[in-house]
Amino acid sequence: MSHSTSEPLPDYRTQDPAVAARFAKIKERPVVLEIDRLGRQFPGEHGPVTALRDISLQIHRREFVCVIGPSGCGKSTLIRIIAGLDDPTSGRMLVDGKETSGPCPERGMVFQGYTLFPWLTVKRNVMFGLEMDGMSSAQAESEARQWIDLVGLRKFAENYPHQLSGGMKQRVAIARALAPNPRVLLMDEPFGALDAQTRAQMQSHLLEIWRNVDVTILFITHDLDEAILLADRIVVLKAHPGEIQEIIEVPVPRPRSLAQLQSPEFQATRRRLDELIHPKVHAPSDHLPIVRLTQIGDDVE
Ligand SMILES: Nc1ncnc2c1ncn2[C@@H]1O[C@H](COP(=O)(O)OP(=O)(O)O)[C@@H](O)[C@H]1O
Ligand SMILES: [Mg+2]
Repeated sequence: MSHSTSEPLPDYRTQDPAVAARFAKIKERPVVLEIDRLGRQFPGEHGPVTALRDISLQIHRREFVCVIGPSGCGKSTLIRIIAGLDDPTSGRMLVDGKETSGPCPERGMVFQGYTLFPWLTVKRNVMFGLEMDGMSSAQAESEARQWIDLVGLRKFAENYPHQLSGGMKQRVAIARALAPNPRVLLMDEPFGALDAQTRAQMQSHLLEIWRNVDVTILFITHDLDEAILLADRIVVLKAHPGEIQEIIEVPVPRPRSLAQLQSPEFQATRRRLDELIHPKVHAPSDHLPIVRLTQIGDDVE
C-alpha cells in the first residue's frame, strides 16, 4: 500500500467502489444531527466578534465526522453549542428532526481535559449521570459495568481517577458519555493531551467502540492524520469568521489502521487538508518591493 513519491497522487475526491458504496449507504440513513445556518457572535472590545458564521451540516446515523481547523476558528464554540453548553446567536439545531437546545443526555460530551469526579471510583463516575437521570442504583451499576467492560477497564472499576493514566481516564470519560445511550457523541480534542503512542492506541480503540455501538460521532481535532484516520467526512473550518471551507469525504477504505498512513488515498487527503489549513505563504521577495531596512550593509546569510 505504500506510495512511491515519483508517482503523482490520485485526486482526493476519487473513491474506490467500496468507499463510494459506503458513502451512498451513509447518505440513505436518517439524519441524526442537523445544524442549520448556525452563527455565534461574542461581544468584543471593538464590537462583536463573529466566532461562527452560517454553519450548516447534516450528520447521518452512525457517521463519524471530524471538524478540523486552525486554533481560534470556532471548533470548541461549535461543539459547545451542539452540547447545549452555549447558545447560538442565530440558526438552529435539530436532533432526529426535532429542534433542540440546552444540555441533554442525547448528546454526550468528552472534553480534552480530564473531567472525572476525583472523589468517585471509575464505576461511580459512570453511574453518576445514570442515577441523575433517575435510574435505580442497581440498574445503573449493571449498566456502568457493561460500559466499563467495553472500554477495557473491568479491572479498574473500583479505582479512583488519580490511580489511572491519561489514556485510561479518557476511556472512563468515553464510558461515562456513552452510558446514557446518547444519539451523538461529541468529542473536543479528547486525545490532545496524550502522548503520541497512547493517542494512537486511543484512536484505534475509539474506532473499535464505534463499530460496536449505535452512535454518531462528532470529533474535533487539529491533527490532520487523526482526522483522516477516524472520519467518514472531515469538515474543514477557516478562522475569522469561523466558516465551513470544505467538507471532504475521506477516500481511505475501512477498517482503518495506521498502516494506511502511506497509502495514496491517505496522502492525497492529507495534501488537500494541508492546502486548506496551511495555505502556502509566498516568500516576501516574490511580492514585496525590496526595501532596505538595515543600514548596516552586512550580509546576514
Ligand atoms: N466566551 C467567549 N467570549 C468571547 N470570545 C470568545 C468566547 N469563546 C470563544 N471566543 C472567541 O471565539 C473564537 C473561537 O474560539 P474557539 O471556539 O475556542 O476556537 P477553537 O476551539 O477553534 O480554538 C476565538 O476568537 C475566541 O477568542
Ligand atoms: Mg478549542
